[in-house]
Amino acid sequence: YQISVAKSGGNATTNLQYGVMEEEINHCGEGGLYAELIRNRAFQGSKTYPSSLDAWVPIRGSSLALKNLSDPLSSALPTSVRVSGIGQSGFTNLGFFGIDVRPQKYSGSFYVKGSYNGKFTAKLQSITSGKILANTTITSKCAGDGWVQHEFVLMPETTASNTNNTFSLTFDASKTSDGYLDFNLISLFPPTWNNRPNGLRRDLMQAMYDLGPKFLRFPGGNNLEGETIPGRWKWNETIGPLTDRPGRATTWGYEETSGMGLVEYMEWCDDLGMEPILAIWSGHALNGDSVSEADLDFYVQDALNELEFLTGPVDTHYGALRAKYGHPEPWTIRYVEVGNEDNLSGGMDSYTGYRFQAFYDALSKRYPDIQVIASTIDMTLPGNAGGDYHLYDIPDNFITKFNMWDNYTDQHPILLGEIAATEFNNGYGVNWSDYHFSTYPWWIASVGEAVFLLGAERNADKIIGTTYAPWMMNLDNYEWSPTMLAFNANPDQTARSTSWHVYSLFNHNHMTNTLPATSPDAFGPLYYAAGLDSQTNSRIFKAAVYNSTANVPVSLKFEGVDRGATADLTVLTAPSAYAMNAVGAPNKVDSQTVKVTAGKNGIFNFKLPNLSVAVLRTN
Ligand code: AHR
Repeated sequence: YQISVAKSGGNATTNLQYGVMEEEINHCGEGGLYAELIRNRAFQGSKTYPSSLDAWVPIRGSSLALKNLSDPLSSALPTSVRVSGIGQSGFTNLGFFGIDVRPQKYSGSFYVKGSYNGKFTAKLQSITSGKILANTTITSKCAGDGWVQHEFVLMPETTASNTNNTFSLTFDASKTSDGYLDFNLISLFPPTWNNRPNGLRRDLMQAMYDLGPKFLRFPGGNNLEGETIPGRWKWNETIGPLTDRPGRATTWGYEETSGMGLVEYMEWCDDLGMEPILAIWSGHALNGDSVSEADLDFYVQDALNELEFLTGPVDTHYGALRAKYGHPEPWTIRYVEVGNEDNLSGGMDSYTGYRFQAFYDALSKRYPDIQVIASTIDMTLPGNAGGDYHLYDIPDNFITKFNMWDNYTDQHPILLGEIAATEFNNGYGVNWSDYHFSTYPWWIASVGEAVFLLGAERNADKIIGTTYAPWMMNLDNYEWSPTMLAFNANPDQTARSTSWHVYSLFNHNHMTNTLPATSPDAFGPLYYAAGLDSQTNSRIFKAAVYNSTANVPVSLKFEGVDRGATADLTVLTAPSAYAMNAVGAPNKVDSQTVKVTAGKNGIFNFKLPNLSVAVLRTN
């Protein structure tokens, strides 16, 4: 390949090329990024998933009963557990499929109601050995009828041999007036990223920090939509004290606590320097129901209220509420997506008929600087509206879409809001009534994605940015694979996928401007994009080789870069097309960086192996 890259003539990129898509699926938040260790901490339930004692076990001689008391902890958390017994009584939580125990501070709390003149004991214990890994006693503050919060700290001295550990809370029932106590909102957190209370798991944040995402699309996916209109994701039920958050039925088989709510998402953006791409509910649920045109105003206003909560000055109604919840400084929202995949589940007619336009008009009028994005590109987009394109497919079909954006209009920027090669090459693609998705991303899939990403990078003025989806899964309980990150209860075993390595390489070589590249040689098996990082004045060439029978020789000339100039060439490869990065296993993606020097006529000459992803960056 002889490739010439012009000095100018490209376009400014949106600067957001790679981001994160968040959706409560796969226990990626609950039992994942949200660092809470206690599963079913407040017995939250819904019509879909009624309150239960899931994850709770009575200690010997005790009995547990769910109660909806006439004086509950809060109206949002109406169900509590009554623990009765004789002498030492209590209950044990199994955590999110285990609990990681190591020498660090665990901050706990619980609410209890009843009359008790004794002490509580909180402990972490190994199921494997029976060993008590940490314990502490807490003097009861319960004198009568009200709910009283108790706080405690657990400090294990050693690291447990595995995550087969439990948390228990016990008390002496003989010192209660009634032989029982009522408990609710029992919580335990390890240290979190930036030590935020109610915060996020460190290893997963570290994996994202190291990747350097530039945006967060949230709360994404089907879970935003809800199975029914009343079951939609309601922003105002995810804010404020945890006792005010009722939780809800996700669309993925379990109840969420909403402990990770709107404010926590924004703090996540703050902590990783990500641009929020806020998804608002668009009036459509997965069961096919759409809000009628006559009834839509309420939901449009609800979205405006949400934006006022996030961005309004403190003298506005919702801005004041945000300040009350610890954030007097307004956030900035520049992107709002209306709904999720409204072209599916029977939503298209009402979306194109009146729903999108109603949200677009109201948002554009009130916030003219916000880029409004439709949840599909299969429609005529009004004004300057953007669209969202999703792609789950076999690797080969990512290659055929390399040039998909080349002739796309620049009037309607596109978010690539969910992208993943999900299924091995099979000659046709994904059959959605009988699909066979891989557990993890695998190398040829990641290279296929890289080719598609290069097509987007070549058009990075029109493409707002790209994100893999779903982003994470708890390997011990998930609904959809593959994902960018996979994990279990042990933070040391978190897997950064083969695709993570591709995204990370591309992201850390960010182009502020595209540059036109020409070649007498057609794309395939080499695919590439070129540009400039105006911060460092580096020229950047990104490439992927897909299905080549030999190493691909490249002669690369950047206009204005002369003989003797140097560059760093980083090449990613893997031992086989099917190499995967699994939870608890070593990384298989090899990354080699070498210095290359421009020779005669200022040309960089190098070879790229089959199934490689590479970046050359001038010094
Ligand atoms: O990412 C998993 C699902 O795929 C999302 O919920 C939905 O938007 C898409 O169909």
